[in-house]
Amino acid sequence: MAEAELSRPAGTAEDWTVPQDWAAYSPAEHAMWDRLFARQAAMLPDRVVPEFIAGLDMLRMDKPGIPDFEALSERLMKATGWQVVAVPGLVPDRVFFEHLANRRFVAGRFIRRPDQLDYLEEPDVFHDVFGHVPLLSHPVFADYMQAYGEGGLRADGLGAIDRLARLYWYTVEFGLIRQDSGLKLYGAGIVSSFGESKFALDDASPNRIGFGLERLMRTQYRIDDYQQSYFVIDSFDDLLRQTIETDFAPLYRRLEGQPDLEPETVLPEDHVYTLGTQAYARAKAPG
Ligand code: PHE
Ligand code: FE
Repeated sequence: MAEAELSRPAGTAEDWTVPQDWAAYSPAEHAMWDRLFARQAAMLPDRVVPEFIAGLDMLRMDKPGIPDFEALSERLMKATGWQVVAVPGLVPDRVFFEHLANRRFVAGRFIRRPDQLDYLEEPDVFHDVFGHVPLLSHPVFADYMQAYGEGGLRADGLGAIDRLARLYWYTVEFGLIRQDSGLKLYGAGIVSSFGESKFALDDASPNRIGFGLERLMRTQYRIDDYQQSYFVIDSFDDLLRQTIETDFAPLYRRLEGQPDLEPETVLPEDHVYTLGTQAYARAKAPG
């Protein structure tokens, strides 16, 4: 994701991109990718939405080593017109939105160290590329991501980036989807995490609640641990349709008069798939 008020590091282009410098990765860095890849590839097949696996296959992401963004972009470009470009770290919101609006996904180029196998504070190339890129090969999801970028530029003008960011968080990063065979994962933050790809589907602790645009824009989220609530979409088509057909400007205005909801809140009008015990979050709460 993005963050405001950063200054552009030396050596980055005006749009904050840098060369990936694929040849500079060490064998240990490639081996780290392979290790993370093998772990998720074993975990995901029955849990993730089939379109994600189709994307991995189409993009040949099972090839050993950290993917070369140029080769990846070439395949992606043919499928949906998207590219993957490297950035040194977090970028300002507007830069992030501008890239998305132009069908460019910005990805970190560094890979986590062995002591960061399960937790890191800034997205690395495994999260960004393994987590996000497969679904960019899906035409409807690809359109959603572009629309989100355009919506971001608009939200910035309306002072509503924080609201819109919740939509990204609860869909692109931590979304679940309902299928005939049950709930499946699609959010990049889940599918790139060994722990959360189990927790989000199997654990009794979190709520799993039907997607509602306004509902979700009112809901705070956790950045430091597993989510306390996940939101479930009916399909990518439905997500795209609802978000592009709704003018967010009146929605943002209406939300100004309403209090935020805590991450674990369940409302009477929610469509609840699973009412969470919140045992996990409580056990971890301070005091
Ligand atoms: N419809 C949104 C608006 O009016 C734009 C948007 C589309 C935002 C898709 C996110 C996802 O601002
Ligand atoms: Fe991400």
